[in-house]
Amino acid sequence: MKKVMKIFGYFLSGVVVLAGLFAAYIEFKGIPNYPVEIPAEVKSLKVDLDSVHIAEGKRIASMLCSACHYSTETGKLTGSHRTDIPKEFGEIYSLNITQDKVHGIGNWTDGELYYFLRTGIRPQTGQYVPPFMPKFPHLSDDDMKSVIAWLRSPDPVVAPDAREYPPNQFNFLVKLLSNVAFGPMPLPEKPIIEPDTTDKVALGRYVANGILGCFACHSADLKTLNDLEPEKTPGFYGGGTEMLDLDGKTHITAANITMDPETGIGKLTEQQFVDAVKYGKKPGGGTLHYPMSPHTALTDTEVKAIYAYLKTVPVIKNQVHRYQASN
Ligand code: HEC
Ligand code: HEC
Repeated sequence: MKKVMKIFGYFLSGVVVLAGLFAAYIEFKGIPNYPVEIPAEVKSLKVDLDSVHIAEGKRIASMLCSACHYSTETGKLTGSHRTDIPKEFGEIYSLNITQDKVHGIGNWTDGELYYFLRTGIRPQTGQYVPPFMPKFPHLSDDDMKSVIAWLRSPDPVVAPDAREYPPNQFNFLVKLLSNVAFGPMPLPEKPIIEPDTTDKVALGRYVANGILGCFACHSADLKTLNDLEPEKTPGFYGGGTEMLDLDGKTHITAANITMDPETGIGKLTEQQFVDAVKYGKKPGGGTLHYPMSPHTALTDTEVKAIYAYLKTVPVIKNQVHRYQASN
């Protein structure tokens, strides 16, 4: 018996040493780098700066980029302190993505932006960008080009601004997860074309999963998201993810938006759903709390399409403890 314990003791101390070495390795290695492999057709990409693409890019970016990169101080996309990121991940800033050539992205080519937004790999260094900056593997080629066109446009919101941030200091947990759990997205193998607006379910699926990533907040856990195959995300649209308010303290739980009549949104009418998603109206009265933002840039057709799509998503029974203003 004693011998067994001794062997077990050796084994355990071996594990501890190995874990220590691994931790030191991760701390030293930091956020991983990947080979930058930009295909020729991406490298030479030049987006059309016509008014239709710029306007559509502005509309999409208002829902997709501004929440993190817009600064109320400068009125531009100069970045902000992400106070809603749990402190366990460190102090994180979104960066200046105005057209400034030194402090913003004025020197990035269209192809580099495309590559970065798709994969999450920095085209200049190969460094992977952790999940605080989303990747857009399912955005249609045309919508992606629209976003890039807007970033290049004369809109004052993206005009050069020299605001600078210290490089983000990612802590051990982010480094660890970026080495073992998260990774870059592959470039799409085929062209991505947005669905026809007459196919309601396909359109809703594209807007919800492909553009806005509603599932990212509305599933079980941020750490188990499947960005490449959203439908395989555990607890898909069943809610429960805990998020922080901008004060960095108040916990808000994302709602179950599968069609379960008791714990989800099965009893909401299409109109109540539109009011919730477009205008942030809480079903039954009041306002939906941050980080559920009103999506006034969506058309009614798009929101109704999301509702139609959610009706096809497997129902999950999951009673979520909802935020109450008085707590
Ligand atoms: C959830 C918050 C969030 C959203 C939404 C978001 N970003 Fe970011 N973005 C970040 C953070 C945080 C960083 C910095 C990451 C780092 O330091 O590794 C970043 C970095 C970047 C960078 C790299 C800048 C540089 O100088 O290295 C670019 C380019 C960028 N974002 C563009 C966009 C665009 C375009 C959109 C919309 C399509 C977008 N981001 C949406 C949070 C966000
Ligand atoms: C950044 C995270 C986040 C994103 C992205 C997000 N939501 Fe939400 N959503 C929430 C949170 C948190 C709540 C709960 C707010 C509350 O309780 O006041 C919520 C509430 C809702 C509700 C109200 C449900 C009810 O029963 O009260 C609906 C409907 C909804 N979201 C749909 C969507 C759709 C559709 C999208 C994509 C267009 C989306 N959400 C994107 C976080 C998010």
